[in-house]
Amino acid sequence: MRPTEPLRDEHRELVEHIEHLALAAREMPRLSDEERDLLRDRMLEFLRGTLLPHAAVEEEILYPEWAALVGFPAAAEPMIHDHAAIVAYVQRLEAADAADADELQAALYGLHALIAVHFAKEEDIQMAAFDAAPEATERVLRRVAAVGGHAHAH
Ligand SMILES: [Fe+2]
Ligand SMILES: [Fe+2]
Repeated sequence: MRPTEPLRDEHRELVEHIEHLALAAREMPRLSDEERDLLRDRMLEFLRGTLLPHAAVEEEILYPEWAALVGFPAAAEPMIHDHAAIVAYVQRLEAADAADADELQAALYGLHALIAVHFAKEEDIQMAAFDAAPEATERVLRRVAAVGGHAHAH
């Protein structure tokens, strides 16, 4: 098992919901205004209730550990930028008029693309480096568990 498997498991759970963003985007044009509003609310519940807290734990623990691992204090800045771009799209989704299917669709497709690329960077670049540093990974997992995150050391 790779040292980062618990972190990858958490991503796998989130990815199921992230795929719903693209499905919801596709649905929007053929729904009534009330149905659009409900679907948007369900997506916002996931984004605000689960995804953004996940990002906050990363900024508190994973990213500083990443910067220490690669020996460059600003190493995680591009990833924090991604989080800010995701928040801006969440706000765009929230602000969209329920009658404006185009805008809802644009916000949802934008979120899907941004989050998918961001996750791929975390998995293919950051987690890959942590897999080569099991001690640093153990510390990340312990710290994430201590703040009530989802990733548990097996
Ligand atoms: Fe992230
Ligand atoms: Fe993540």
